[in-house]
Amino acid sequence: MAKIAITGGQRLVGSVNISGSKNAALPILAACLLVPGENVVCNLPKLLDVKTMLEVLKCLGARIKAEKGCAWIDASDISHFDAPYKLVRQMRASVLVMGPLLARFGKAIVPLPGGCAIGLRPIDIHLKALEQLGAKIIMHDGCVEATCSKLKGQKLYFDFPSVGATENIMMAASLAEGQTIIHDAAMEPEIVDLANFLNKAGASISGAGTNRIEINGVERLNPVVDYHVIPDRVEAGTYMVAAAITKGNVLLKDCILSHLDAVIAKLREAGVTVTEESEGVRVEMSGEISPLSIKTMPYPGFPTDMQAQFMTMMTTVPGISIIVESVFENRFMHVSELCRMGADIKVDGHTSLIRGVPFLSGAPIVATDLRASVALILAGLIAKGKTKVMEIHYLDRGYEYIEDKLSALGAIIKRVE
Ligand code: UD1
Repeated sequence: MAKIAITGGQRLVGSVNISGSKNAALPILAACLLVPGENVVCNLPKLLDVKTMLEVLKCLGARIKAEKGCAWIDASDISHFDAPYKLVRQMRASVLVMGPLLARFGKAIVPLPGGCAIGLRPIDIHLKALEQLGAKIIMHDGCVEATCSKLKGQKLYFDFPSVGATENIMMAASLAEGQTIIHDAAMEPEIVDLANFLNKAGASISGAGTNRIEINGVERLNPVVDYHVIPDRVEAGTYMVAAAITKGNVLLKDCILSHLDAVIAKLREAGVTVTEESEGVRVEMSGEISPLSIKTMPYPGFPTDMQAQFMTMMTTVPGISIIVESVFENRFMHVSELCRMGADIKVDGHTSLIRGVPFLSGAPIVATDLRASVALILAGLIAKGKTKVMEIHYLDRGYEYIEDKLSALGAIIKRVE
């Protein structure tokens, strides 16, 4: 089993290119199922989750070619309507094939998803909305089977602005009859990117990026050539924290500053300098980081996907910091590993209280989910001595070339067998 070995204590200096967004790429790849003909999607990060989504599409009958960050996806001849459990269980986002399959072919069978063990993560909002559009949903053998003749547009009111449900419904409603309005939709930049892709294919979607999205169904969608997915705001935020905690000076290239407003606001509140330059965004830290109080929220609030990284940052900040996780039920699994490195963190339900300690000590530690894994890498960067992070398959789901990127900035980090 591969591990990441880190010797802590290096200041990160230099520049880093931010990769394409995993969370934007996955729904866009699923959306290719709506299109008879070949789509070309570029700026795809080289990640396990992207590979898994391409595998899912292939199993359904799509013709796939992938090289140098681009994928050619031709879903003209879809022959299967059931996503294989062995893939869906590896990645919750596989559930995103349901909306497109149902809208174009009237049938989708998807096993109940797996993914990171960061909460119950049901898909009730997806299913309720698909039913309201006219789908018949039955559960059997651990699978959701959805069928319909033709989906019909409706006014939908989400109980929570679920990212995945907003994406699934936007895709399904693109080929439905009439108008669909999603009230209380998710507003993440990845939703806007999916809407841009669908509109390029001939869909009629407005309001993406607000909490009210209007979709006017069209008869068919057409292939999109050369679509570039947006940069990964979570990867960018993670390198920002890496620069801050190592008292470094890092220029992030290819990131969209406005997608990171809440993260940058918290970094500035902590005393970190973040400046926009012609080539990118520079993050510098020299003095003491200040303690923070953070509550994760749906976008444009502070992202749950940055919670673990900020917790690592707070472990050695003098004083008391508080983090409230309001999006997922069980997203503090990194806490016990951070405590094994010497952190002082108490968790009570959705709230964690972090009392800054003078330093962390290197240790063998185990990653438990995608963002937890990178939080432990960050901990290794500032810890005294050597850290070995195990179960790094989680890391490979979301961080392209992380050892290379951190090494180029001056970290002592390598992958070992
Ligand atoms: C997406 C992101 C993930 C991010 C999350 C929240 C992708 C591939 N993943 O995940 O990185 O952490 O948004 O920003 O884009 N929920 C329900 N019922 C549903 C759907 C969701 O109760 O039908 C709950 C979930 O259990 C969770 C919360 O809503 O507690 C947020 O889930 P959601 O916004 O759907 O996240 P994902 O799309 O799974």
